[in-house]
Amino acid sequence: MKIFDSPQKLQKELFGLKCDGKKIGFVPTMGYLHDGHLSLLRIARDKSDVLVASIFVNPTQFGPNEDLDSYPRDFKSDEMLCEKAGVDYLFYPTNEAMYPDGYSTYVDEHVLSQVLCGRKRPGHFRGVVTVVAKLFNIVMPDVAVFGQKDAQQVRVVQQLVRDLNFPVEVIVGPIVREVDGLAMSSRNTYLKGDDRNRALVLNQSLLLAKSMIESGESNALNVKKAMLNKFKHVSGISVDYVEIRNYDTLDEIELLDGIILIAVAVMVGDVRLIDNIIVWN
Ligand code: PAF
Repeated sequence: MKIFDSPQKLQKELFGLKCDGKKIGFVPTMGYLHDGHLSLLRIARDKSDVLVASIFVNPTQFGPNEDLDSYPRDFKSDEMLCEKAGVDYLFYPTNEAMYPDGYSTYVDEHVLSQVLCGRKRPGHFRGVVTVVAKLFNIVMPDVAVFGQKDAQQVRVVQQLVRDLNFPVEVIVGPIVREVDGLAMSSRNTYLKGDDRNRALVLNQSLLLAKSMIESGESNALNVKKAMLNKFKHVSGISVDYVEIRNYDTLDEIELLDGIILIAVAVMVGDVRLIDNIIVWN
């Protein structure tokens, strides 16, 4: 595995491989890799000749009061996991390499990014879309794999690819869960004591929603109420949002019909966790 910190050098090397007809698979990450990331790497490896991963805790997608400084990092372990996962190129740039002095160009999506986490985290998706556009330009992937755990991010990236004509196939990897149902996330490491157990209510609320829909409930408000009620009974949790939306448009829906995204964001103690489920009805 080759490690690059220079965008220009990596771009040059991968351009050479592309000219030789190699198919490039890419998994962008912020590091602190877990089985969820490894599953995305497996998908990308199966779809490509050359596997590229990036590790970059992107400062532009963090708000002023968010966890940029304390975001978990462990490059040695990430490096070993990437090597084992068959990564050919690991991109590990510095902030200065990605956003040098005088940096002034940002990419904004104006519809899908305005709801759900976008409403709660102003500027977050501007940072995500900007860095993903930069990474796509540097890596020039044929295939890029993103996790469904960040369902809104997936939709926003798909829109970016469509609107700015990136020649990239976006593949969505399923959510990987711990045996007790907690969706894997680098932020789970923050959960201390009872909070780890309390966090199980996210998945439980989503399963409740799914079973209500499967049993014939067609009113989104009833499902939302039942989910909120479930959260009410767990101490130490404050709900950021519980939302039921059309998966394509991310518009709120009343009638449970089509491809439905049920998404939750909650604070467990001082840790913000998100989770979601997609239901076809
Ligand atoms: O999902 C993430 O880890 C990040 O948002 C991404 C896509 C790597 C961009 O920084």
